[in-house]
Amino acid sequence: MRQPILSLLLVAGFAAPAAAGALDPKKLLDEAKAVFQPLPAVPVAKDSVDAARVELGRRLFFENRVSMDGNVNCAHCHLPDRQASDGLPKAIGVFGKENPRNAPSIFNAALNVKQHWRGDRESLEDQAEKSLLGPASFGNPDQATAMGKLKAIPAYPEAFAKAFPGDKDPVNSRNWGVAVGAFERTLLTPSKFDAFLSGDVKALTPQQLAGLRLFIDTGCAACHNGVGVGGNSFQKFGVVEDYWKETGAKTPDKGRADVTKNDVDLYVFKVPSLRNVAKTAPYFHDGSVEDLPKAVEIMGKTQLGKTLSRQETADIVAFLGALTGAAPANYAAPEPFPDAR
Ligand code: HEC
Ligand code: HEC
Repeated sequence: MRQPILSLLLVAGFAAPAAAGALDPKKLLDEAKAVFQPLPAVPVAKDSVDAARVELGRRLFFENRVSMDGNVNCAHCHLPDRQASDGLPKAIGVFGKENPRNAPSIFNAALNVKQHWRGDRESLEDQAEKSLLGPASFGNPDQATAMGKLKAIPAYPEAFAKAFPGDKDPVNSRNWGVAVGAFERTLLTPSKFDAFLSGDVKALTPQQLAGLRLFIDTGCAACHNGVGVGGNSFQKFGVVEDYWKETGAKTPDKGRADVTKNDVDLYVFKVPSLRNVAKTAPYFHDGSVEDLPKAVEIMGKTQLGKTLSRQETADIVAFLGALTGAAPANYAAPEPFPDAR
């Protein structure tokens, strides 16, 4: 899964001389199209079962009653008004327990190669199912406890039966994962950059164009590329120097090495998608950096050995702003099913 950095740097035009003078947006568009792709269309329900799954998934996503303290749902840490992140360095779950890492946005997460910073979840479905047991998320001792809470709410067995027709015991954690995943797959956030990639050269401001030029030329796009502008590979955080020297993190996280038990994965993390990044501070797997210009400067140093000027940083930050899309209209809690009486 790790891509050789050097060849990517070459593909991304790293070796090419920096553009001189005025930018040619059409030429830049052609180059950008070789490195990035616009978001696909939001998947439409194939049939009524599919539609029932997405709707059930939305309901489960906003369901507090399945957590051990009754106060935590998925949106507790993936807030609608924070572009599905939570604004905290590290997320706080059931009974106020702190999660070891920062909550990323889940918008466009369907495009990720794997889920979580260390890629320890295979898919959206796997992630959702395991969340139920996370000691710092929902805190259930086992899946039967979690499912028992749903079965006690009379409308759920009916809603699961509609979404999973033919299942003898449809209220199960696998189906929970499938339904929540189906909902998450609808959460795509098209941005100005998608309009640009689709041919509208006026969609980006001159500063954003300059930032895109730099993003490609300095080598950011060697890792942050594809449809997610990241999310599609694993790379070491700290290629040139130890990341904690720049971020100030007190106890370095070993990253993917703790998952694969392989030394080559020491300090390796999933390259995050940069879609919506302007709205998801604080930054990095441990939320150690509060503002985006600082995060960009650190990336220049730790990943590329480059000190970006204030102007270059500002231009790149402006470009990253073009990756913000509106929160999808369906990312909102439905009226909860009534409790059993
Ligand atoms: C207590 C806060 C909290 C709750 C509750 C929570 N999450 Fe998260 N979520 C996180 C954190 C923290 C991470 C990063 C974990 C890691 O990488 O180790 C994360 C990561 C994710 C990711 C991976 C995104 C990526 O880019 O890798 C997805 C998808 C996700 N959560 C969906 C959900 C769903 C669905 C639920 C409900 C079933 C949920 N989360 C509940 C905090 C939370
Ligand atoms: C060698 C691969 C690589 C290169 C080159 C690279 N990055 Fe990153 N980037 C990463 C990885 C890996 C992370 C995740 C680090 C972590 O928190 O563990 C990351 C994280 C980030 C973040 C934080 C995102 C968040 O949600 O917290 C930003 C912003 C970012 N990169 C921007 C850039 C910019 C701008 C450049 C060019 C100056 C760049 N990156 C170059 C691999 C790379």
